[in-house]
Amino acid sequence: MASAQDYDRAASEIRRPGSERSEPPADMRELVRLATLAASSHNTQPWKFRIGLDFIAVLPDFARRCPVVDPDDSHLFKSLGCAAENLVHAGAAQGYAAEVQFDAAAESVIVRFERSAAARSTELFRAITTRQCTKTLYDGSPLTTSQMKQLEYAGQGSAVRTILITQRNQLESVVEFVNQGNRAQLSDPAFRRELVSWIRFNPGDALRRRDGLSGRTAGQPALPAWLANWIIGFVLTPKSQADTDAKNIRSSSAVAIFVSQRDDRAAWVEVGRAYERFALQATALEIRNAFLNQPIEVRPLRAQFESWLGLRGETPQLMVRIGRAKLAPFSLRRPLEEVILAS
Ligand SMILES: Cc1cc2nc3c(=O)[nH]c(=O)nc-3n(C[C@H](O)[C@H](O)[C@H](O)COP(=O)(O)O)c2cc1C
Repeated sequence: MASAQDYDRAASEIRRPGSERSEPPADMRELVRLATLAASSHNTQPWKFRIGLDFIAVLPDFARRCPVVDPDDSHLFKSLGCAAENLVHAGAAQGYAAEVQFDAAAESVIVRFERSAAARSTELFRAITTRQCTKTLYDGSPLTTSQMKQLEYAGQGSAVRTILITQRNQLESVVEFVNQGNRAQLSDPAFRRELVSWIRFNPGDALRRRDGLSGRTAGQPALPAWLANWIIGFVLTPKSQADTDAKNIRSSSAVAIFVSQRDDRAAWVEVGRAYERFALQATALEIRNAFLNQPIEVRPLRAQFESWLGLRGETPQLMVRIGRAKLAPFSLRRPLEEVILAS
């Protein structure tokens, strides 16, 4: 049976430092490896990559969609945006400037590379391999004004901006929205079934599938899948999740909400890019983040959340808490052979 050490060895091999090079041609497979290290909803890794001469196309893998939590595939397209953003920074480290476009007809994100004397390795590039969603308690210490400004800047995109909330009374309102979202989601059997189907309860299960939400990243003990499936019915309740999320939010320095002017596939890709850039910047500053999307995913709540935020014509798309904590064990990724399409 695979052990926690086997898991950690595989995770560190998957996240080995990215290669930089000064001479063409670009190492396109290496660019794809770094793209796959991006965040994705439930770690579904809902992407395929087509490698061209001077471009990489990031295509949706609809076989990996989550119809209950993400019926319009908005999280799926945000995940493609996250992967595309990593390609931009990985391309720069190999001496290429990148241009990103969403091709609506082909339902794919095209990242085009052009040799550029100005393109070079950056702190965002170096953060690709250590970025993670850190789902543990944070230490509650405030961020500096300069850190907040850098994060806000990184989280801006085309028709996308990031709202940062630091005031304790406003964070308490976020706790209440998340709590209401947990109640709606965790009392829905279809939501629970879908969520549980993506949980990998022990290192062996995680290493076989190399996707999904590994218990190890959240500090949960390894259990045989049959036992975990039985126990989770008792421990994953709206109340238990609300308590955990409330503690987690209160331990955080701030909450960041990504809002967009449009609400379509092209906008979702832009939101994904803005989030990933924000997360890479946060990683470079040794600031952690973890998602709290309940008030956005539960449709009737979203309208209330929008008006609480005072938005006019903008849509909230993603929410994360941010703060300081140690890195946790990393999540896994599928091998490149499973995601690169034959050209
Ligand atoms: C669009 C999107 C939505 C996500 N939603 C949630 C969420 O609601 N709750 C959560 O805990 N994590 C969420 N995640 C984070 C994923 O679980 C995480 O990225 C994935 O497990 C891979 O782990 P890593 O980011 O640490 O590499 C989301 C990620 C993306 C890109």
